Amino acid sequence: MNQSNKKNLEFIINSGVNYFLQDSPRNWFENEKKLGQSDFNKNTGDKKTHIDEVIKDLKNHKSSLQKTATKLVVYDGNLNAKVMLIGEAPGSDEDQQGIPFVGRAGQLLNKMLLAINLQREDVYITNVVNWRPPDNRTPNDNEILEFLPFLQRQIEIIKPKFIFLLGGVAAKAILSTPLALGKLRGKWHEYKSLNLEQGIPTIASYHPAFLLRSPQYKKHSWEDLQMLQEKLINES
Ligand code: URA
Repeated sequence: MNQSNKKNLEFIINSGVNYFLQDSPRNWFENEKKLGQSDFNKNTGDKKTHIDEVIKDLKNHKSSLQKTATKLVVYDGNLNAKVMLIGEAPGSDEDQQGIPFVGRAGQLLNKMLLAINLQREDVYITNVVNWRPPDNRTPNDNEILEFLPFLQRQIEIIKPKFIFLLGGVAAKAILSTPLALGKLRGKWHEYKSLNLEQGIPTIASYHPAFLLRSPQYKKHSWEDLQMLQEKLINES
């Protein structure tokens, strides 16, 4: 195994890949802190520099999805956001513009945010997968795992107070569970990682593209958004 493959493998293992797909959401209350990694959280250094490093690593990372995609799509919004939104993967508009959630689903997302007094500029928006899958197909488990370390690094850099997962792919990736959204939504979960001093309260809710197709679920989405709004009000 060459050095770069070995480094990649170590990185993926350190990111907790072996906890992927459990029967219930991941809840690491009793994590041991990894030696030598506590400084990461104490470092209040420039988030932009760290996010730029993630982008550089994504550009250097060879993914088969890149062959059929146009632009790498990483994030939009505010690096100091209290709320991080995580979607699935870029669609056609995002692939053209290199910005997440700019198509029809993105427009609905903007409205959903406005409904709880958040502007798009107030939140950090990203996806599990950073290249558009061919024909907008759902990313498979290997692709989710391939991009998970980059997503985990973004969470650790941004350190949002709350995470709002949009759709089943984001829920599977971040809560490490195959449970359906109907079972996961409507309650708070916790995202924990060895590189975070505290778990991050997390909600899993419906993807705006799904809501466009199935508007009858909007009432549940609204309940989930209100749960987030309540926490934001209480903690400000
Ligand atoms: N759907 C997603 O999950 N992400 C986007 O960026 C756009 C549509």
